[in-house]
Amino acid sequence: EVWNPSGKYRVISTKPMPGTRWINLLVQQGCRVEICTEKKTILSVEDIIALIGDKCDGVIGQLTEDWGETLFSALSRAGGKAFSNMAVGYNNVDVNAANKYGVAVGNTPGVLTETTAELAASLSLAAARRIVEADEFMRAGLYDGWLPNLYVGNLLKGQTVGVIGAGRIGSAYARMMVEAYAEFLKASGEKPVTWKRASSMDEVLRQADVISLHPVLDKTTYHLVNKERLAIMKKEAILVNCSRGPVIDEVALVEHLRANPMFRVGLDVFEDEPFMKPGLADMKNAIVVPHIASASKWTREGMATLAALNVLGKIKGYPIWSDPNQ
Ligand code: DGY
Repeated sequence: EVWNPSGKYRVISTKPMPGTRWINLLVQQGCRVEICTEKKTILSVEDIIALIGDKCDGVIGQLTEDWGETLFSALSRAGGKAFSNMAVGYNNVDVNAANKYGVAVGNTPGVLTETTAELAASLSLAAARRIVEADEFMRAGLYDGWLPNLYVGNLLKGQTVGVIGAGRIGSAYARMMVEAYAEFLKASGEKPVTWKRASSMDEVLRQADVISLHPVLDKTTYHLVNKERLAIMKKEAILVNCSRGPVIDEVALVEHLRANPMFRVGLDVFEDEPFMKPGLADMKNAIVVPHIASASKWTREGMATLAALNVLGKIKGYPIWSDPNQ
């Protein structure tokens, strides 16, 4: 799909993105916008090299693509100066390689903070109240009357919530969880909810009833939650991951879920996306959703716009908006 064919600057988006604001913005500023409509979900390095071709000023790419040495050298050979991930996370981008080839890199922080925190909060509540299991039970036609022991879960009121990675999203999640009860407790004269910074991650894992993971994925956070750390968590804890899959050792997690049926997880991300490790899909104590934490209309349009602004900013010499190097 091509917009403004005679535009001076050739900007490629490797995927169609929501809304038209980002397209209008690029077109109004003299860009020819090419959107790849290839059906295949994940584009290979070779697919993207073919898209870049001989002349390309900037690319908006996706977190499923491997933006390393090969792609940045191809983009630089085509005269490209800018690349933006349409994501806040950029573990799929080799920023050093981009620097080496003189390509500026942007990401899309800010616009997805609350949306992602809302999904983490939703997964926390859904896991606590076993909503997905209960929904499956209803749809299977198994409900034949109210029972005292039917899908009994955990009340989150009064429980300890742990956040690993208190950046923008982790902090927003913490605020949402605290504020969910703040007014109610005040009105009923009960002890207010408080929060504190823990002295170590293991302290959080040992004490919390609900743990939400929000770190950046890098060498230091790969398999941060492993067999040993799962073992120190409460047997009935809830673990939520809306960051990146490899933060959890998923094989160890499946074993842990098998051995501890009251331990529950809410997962938006997986170690080998789009796949799940064997056994995970069969676990009743796991809720799994397909990497949708930022999937609200407002946020996805915002991410597309920010990604377009990043690329445009570099092409036109305006200060780049969101540069993970800064
Ligand atoms: C991100 O932005 O890094 C999310 O994983 C997708 O929105």
